[in-house]
Amino acid sequence: MKNYALALIPGDGIGVDVTDAAMKVMQAAAARFGFGLTLETFPWSCNYYHETGAMMPEDGIETLRGFDAVFLGAVGWPETVPDSVSLHGLLLPIRKAFNQYANIRPHRLLNGVEGPLKASGFDILCIRENTEGEYSGAGGRVHQGKGNEVAVETSVFTREGVERILRFGFEQARSRRKHLTSVTKSNAQKYSMVFWDEVTRELATEYSDVTVSHMHIDAMAAKMVMAPEQLDVVVASNLFGDILTDLGAAIQGGLGFAASANINPDRSSPSMFEPVHGSAPDIAGKNIANPIAAIWSGAMMLDHLGETDAANAVLAAIELATAQGIGIRPGLHSTDQITTAILGALEK
Ligand code: IPM
Ligand code: MN
Repeated sequence: MKNYALALIPGDGIGVDVTDAAMKVMQAAAARFGFGLTLETFPWSCNYYHETGAMMPEDGIETLRGFDAVFLGAVGWPETVPDSVSLHGLLLPIRKAFNQYANIRPHRLLNGVEGPLKASGFDILCIRENTEGEYSGAGGRVHQGKGNEVAVETSVFTREGVERILRFGFEQARSRRKHLTSVTKSNAQKYSMVFWDEVTRELATEYSDVTVSHMHIDAMAAKMVMAPEQLDVVVASNLFGDILTDLGAAIQGGLGFAASANINPDRSSPSMFEPVHGSAPDIAGKNIANPIAAIWSGAMMLDHLGETDAANAVLAAIELATAQGIGIRPGLHSTDQITTAILGALEK
C-alpha cells in the first residue's frame, strides 16, 4: 500500500478548525482508495512564537523537506504578533525555500453555491507567481523615525522566475480551454512588467495552440466582475495574483470556498496546500468556519500526490453536499455539520 507522509501545520485561529475537518476527509479518502496518510503535526504558530521567540524552529524547513506534502491551515494573530513577523516567519519562507513557485487557485461556483454576480458559468484557474516579484523581500529602511526616513521595497523579476510561471500557465491552459490571460501593468511599470509581457510573447510562439490575451491589472479586476466567464487560465505576479485571488474568492461565494496549492512543479521539494483564507480570529474555535476551502485544498493535494481518483471523489463529495445546500452560506451549518455531510457523500 502506498503511504504518504504529510506535515500538518494547523497554525492559528480557524486554521486549526479547518485542518481538523480536512484531515478527517483526507483519511476517509485514503481508506476508501487504499492508500495511507501518516500525519505529523507541527505546532508552529503565533502561540509557538510566544513560547519560543520564533514561528518555527531554526531547522524547520529542513524538517519539512522530508515530507511528501505540507498542509497548512492559516497563519496570523495580529493582536499579539504583527502579521509582518508571523508571515515572514512561517508561510512565506516555506513558499520560497521549497521553490513552490506556482500558486494555483481555482475560482468557480460549486454546485448549489450562489455568488454575488449574475454570471455563474465561470471557471477560472488563477496562477500566481509565488517566490519573487513584489514579495522578493528586497529592500530596507533608513533614518527610522526621523523626518527624512526612507523605505524602499524592490520588486524582483528574473527571467527564470517569469519564464517558469508563464510556462506553467501555458501548460495548464493546454489541458483546459486553451486560453491564457497574462496580467501586468506595463503601461505604468516600464521595466518589470514590460519584461513580463515580452517573455509572454516569446513563449506564446511555443504554444501556438493557446490563445493569449494581455490585460492590465486594473482592467482585469473589472473583467472578473463583469465577464468572468470569458477567462480561463490567468497568470499574474505575486502581488497582483494575491489581490486577484481574493476577488476570485469573492465571486465564487466567499473565502470559505477558495482553495489553493503552492506547487513546486519539479518536485525537488514538497508542495504546500492551504485555503486562501486567513486565521479569522473572531470566529476561531467556534465551530462555524467553513472547511470547504481547506477540504478542496486537500483534494488538490491528493491530485498532486497522484491520487487522482481520490481527489475527484473528494471534490464530488463537496459538491454533493453543497448541491443539497450544505455550507453554502455563512452561518447555515457548523464546521462539523459540513464535514459530516462531506464524509457521508464520500461514501456514496
Ligand atoms: C495569501 C495571503 C498571504 C499572501 C499573506 C497572508 C502573506 O494573503 O496566501 O493570499 O499575501 O500571500
Ligand atoms: Mn491573499
